[in-house]
Amino acid sequence: MAKVYIPVGSVRGTATAVAQACAAQLVKDGHEAVVDSDASVTALNDGAWDAVLIVTSTTGKGALPGNLVPFYDDLKSQSPLQNGRPFGVISLGDSSHDRTFCQGGALMEERFCELQGRAPVPRVTIDATETRTPEVDALFWLKEWTDAVFPA
Ligand SMILES: Cc1cc2nc3c(=O)[nH]c(=O)nc-3n(C[C@H](O)[C@H](O)[C@H](O)COP(=O)(O)O)c2cc1C
Repeated sequence: MAKVYIPVGSVRGTATAVAQACAAQLVKDGHEAVVDSDASVTALNDGAWDAVLIVTSTTGKGALPGNLVPFYDDLKSQSPLQNGRPFGVISLGDSSHDRTFCQGGALMEERFCELQGRAPVPRVTIDATETRTPEVDALFWLKEWTDAVFPA
């Protein structure tokens, strides 16, 4: 059994629903998963997590949702090195914002890479113009991610 920390950034709840669907699947697979809408470096450091799964939408012009900004900023100022800890990013957006499509997830991925996290599977983008079932789409990617992070 592994422990997975799931920081979530969401404005209207879509990313939160995706994060909860992923957590439910991880629990079904025998893992422990905690979705955190108020993510913090303290929780990241203190939880003895085996992996981190960031789920975030994008708002404004390529910005992170407000509830994830303090975490993002603290990752920069406190630099909690990840020492190869596996992470993944599920990035929700809308491709009509062509220049900033899924930028929020890209920012989080960049930051975890800077902190020496290891991404065995590249970030997935989920486009609101292409799907009405983001939770279902995310679970396909999650399977690939869990197979890579927790090989049988
Ligand atoms: C005000 C506003 C600004 C947005 N800006 C972007 C953007 O810059 N890039 C992008 O890819 N999606 C953008 N989106 C689309 C959202 O990221 C997308 O609808 C997402 O599924 C919302 O998830 P949430 O409910 O968890 O916040 C924007 C949506 C709104 C309402």
